[in-house]
Order: sequence, then C-alpha cells, then structure tokens
Amino acid sequence: MKTGDVRSAANAALALAAEYGLTWRDRVRPIHPEGDAGSLRQAFGGPTPETGMPQDAVIAELIQAAEPGLVGNTQPGFHAWVMGGSSPVGVAADWLTSVWGQNAAIFQCSPAAATAEEAAATWLLDILGLPRDASVGFVTGATMAGFTCLAAARDEILRRAGHDFARDGLAGSPAIRVLISEDTHVSNLAALRYLGFGSAQITKLPGDSQGRIDLATLAQTLYTDDAPTIVIATAGHINSGAFDYIGAISEMTVPRGAWLHVDAAFGLWARAVPELSFRTAGLERADSWSTDAHKWLQVPYDSGVAIVRHAEAHRRAMDVTAGYLSNAPEDGRNPTQYGPELSRRARGFAVWAVLKVLGREGVADLVRRHCNGAQRLANRLSGIDGIHVLNRVTLNQIALRFEDARGDADALTAAVEAGLNDAEHFVRTAEWRGQRILRLSVIEDGTDDAALDRLAMKIERVWAETKQALKRHPD
Ligand SMILES: Cc1ncc(COP(=O)(O)O)c(C=O)c1O
Repeated sequence: MKTGDVRSAANAALALAAEYGLTWRDRVRPIHPEGDAGSLRQAFGGPTPETGMPQDAVIAELIQAAEPGLVGNTQPGFHAWVMGGSSPVGVAADWLTSVWGQNAAIFQCSPAAATAEEAAATWLLDILGLPRDASVGFVTGATMAGFTCLAAARDEILRRAGHDFARDGLAGSPAIRVLISEDTHVSNLAALRYLGFGSAQITKLPGDSQGRIDLATLAQTLYTDDAPTIVIATAGHINSGAFDYIGAISEMTVPRGAWLHVDAAFGLWARAVPELSFRTAGLERADSWSTDAHKWLQVPYDSGVAIVRHAEAHRRAMDVTAGYLSNAPEDGRNPTQYGPELSRRARGFAVWAVLKVLGREGVADLVRRHCNGAQRLANRLSGIDGIHVLNRVTLNQIALRFEDARGDADALTAAVEAGLNDAEHFVRTAEWRGQRILRLSVIEDGTDDAALDRLAMKIERVWAETKQALKRHPD
C-alpha cells in the first residue's frame, strides 16, 4: 500500500469509530448483554488471522462482535455495582489520549501527560481536602491504589522499626500486623497478599450492623503489642456506604505510630460536598487514601488514585531507576515514581478534563444529587410492608431485603431481583453477613430523581407481584 492509502485506511477506521461513538449515547441500547459466552466466543474467535483485513472493516467487525456483549453501566437504570458512567468529556479526553499514544512513564516520554497529572493531582487534593503536600499516583483502579499505598506503608513502618526494606525485603524484618475490618472490601485483602501479607498477619476486627470497625476492639487490639502496625479503614462500605469513624481511629493510630490507610474507593468524593464532610471528619489525618476516578468522578476506565501523606515513603516504595530513565533537574514529574507501572496510559488527561468541566462545584453537585436520590429512594421504600432497608442511607448505597412470613427471605429477595431486571434496569443481589440483599448503587451520572422514582414504583410493583405469587404457591 502507498503511504496515502495507508493513511486513508487508518482515517476511515478512526472516522468510523468516531461517528459510532458520537451516536452511541443517543441510541436506545440494551442494558443487559444479549450475547452469551458461546455466541461471543464465536463472534470474536475463529482461526488466527493469517492475512490482514482493511482497518475500517475490522472496526466494523469489532462493533458487531462486541455490541451483544456490552453492559449498560453508562445508563441511568444501572444499579448493580459501584460503577461510574464514563462521562462524554472524559471519553473525548480518553480518545485523544489514545490518538496521541503517549507513554506516561517519565516526564521526557510525555511532558504533557506528566504535567496534566501534576495539575490534576493538585486539584484533587484541594477538592478532597487532603494535605496539599501529599503525593499522588494515577493507577488502574482502587485495587492498585490500595496496593500502592500499602506498599508505602510497609516500607515506612519497617523503616521506623529500623529495617531497610529496599535492601533486605521481608527477610528478617519485624513482623507487621495488619488490622482490618472483617467487612473490608476484598480488594484490600488481594493487595495485602500481593505485598507478602498472609492471613496469619491480618487481624480481622468485628464490625457493627453497617460494617464499621468496632472502635473498642480496635483500641484493645492496637495496644496489645508494639509490632509495626497498619490499620485499614473504609470510607464508603461497599454494601452500606458507611464510613468508619476515621477521626477516632486516627486518634489511636497517630500516637501509636501505626499507619492508617483509608480505602475510599467512592466515599472519598463525599469530601467534596460541604454538608457531607462531617462524615469524613478526621479522614485527612490518615497516612494514605485510595480512591477511584472511574467511579463517582465518571472518568472512563481505568482510573484509580493513590494518595500518600509521606511523599518520601511513596517514592521509595515505587522507585524505578535506570540509566535510560532520565530524571533531569529541569524535568517535571516522573509519573512512574508514583505507581507500580513503567510504560502506561496517560491517565491524567481524562481526570484533568473531567475536573475542568465539573469544577469543585460540579463534583459536589454530582455527589450530592446521588446521595439525595439514594435517600429519596430509601424513604419511598422503607414504608412498604416487607421491604427492609438494612442500612442507614448516608451515601449512595442502599441494601434491601424482602421478607414475608410465607417465604424464605433469601429466595424472595432473589425473586425481586429477577423481576426488576428488564430492558430498563440492571440490578444484582449480593450476600452480606449471611443474608441475600438487593444492593442498589446510585452513582451513574445521568441517574436523576425521575429515574429513581420510576425504580421505586417498580420495586413496589414487583414486590407486590412476588407476594401474590407466594399466596398462590407458598413454599
Ligand atoms: C470500597 C471499595 N474498595 C475497593 C474497590 C476496588 O476498586 P477497583 O475495582 O477500582 O479496583 C471497590 C470497588 O467497588 C470498592 O467499592
């Protein structure tokens, strides 16, 4: 092919993707995937391509193969998991990120990517009310943000105990204790495992009905021995949305020299809302915080943020140096020093763009609207016979259970789930404390009061039908 032909073939592929992308949001789309594993394998599979295909034809085929397997998590009726909706401006910035093809490893690979991150980091610390000199890494999601923060924690508390982790690793190091809620998000346990902590080093503390760490047990456990200790608290429990009493926890960890990490995958954004900030009072005294921009901030996947008070510890834990990885004094930020990757996507552009569009006020409005919406939904449902709102709805999560003397509540809750899932809604049940619950998350940007009122009416109707069926066929 001649150069001009190659360019026009590439442009045709880009044009097709852009045109499709422009109309995608406006189309009526199925919220549930229509394809199953078999049909999707058939669509994507086949023999290894031996010869190439025209680029636009491949993009057309990709669209055709993928569409039946897409989930409508960018639609207002999606409440199944805590997922954001990839805001259009974030997508636009993300397109450019791909078009530019920058490698955000070091400043010299992409000064623009490094500087956009730096600016976005400063704004995030400001909006979230965290120490302005904390250091910030842009990673794939809250799991890797937790991993990054806990790597810094491990390094720093061993350093304080006189152990050089960079030189000696975990061999011969003082044993580290990790204190964590039994209700912690599973990603924290995964991050700990990646960092060399087995279950024997992790003490799971009991939580209250909302999943908050029991303070008395924490205090007792914290002071039973003087081993280097990491405490992991939660801001925004996955089922209840509850916040640990982080201010009180920090009063225990700071004098004890323990490292307090806060998993705030979505709860951290409550800091942006003045009237909600009392829930997170004292959170700013922690040592590190992990959060997601791809949840409440609506940045396209994948976008997590690791924030560490002790910049040096962060830097030591993530250090990558080599003769070819320049960090000249005149250079700006080297992104690789803040996360576990070297070559990576320039994630800062999309975060920067979304923050520019929303501003401090827009972030607050978004979070406020969802929290008020969740409250409104819970209020409408809590008066209905047999519907139990299990959590105090203080954020955006609602945990429901459906009970009737004639049936098993787990089965009834599952029956309501089945009745709700249709062309407009995508919901899921989960197991929490040995019970099946219907867990609704209000977090997608376009979800407004009207959408939530429709959902409330539907839940009421489906529950009435479920009870009717129970009358006819008690189990
Ligand atoms: C409280 C909490 N922590 C951590 C995570 C993990 O986040 P990610 O899936 O972005 O890695 C989640 C995801 O829902 C979460 O809700």
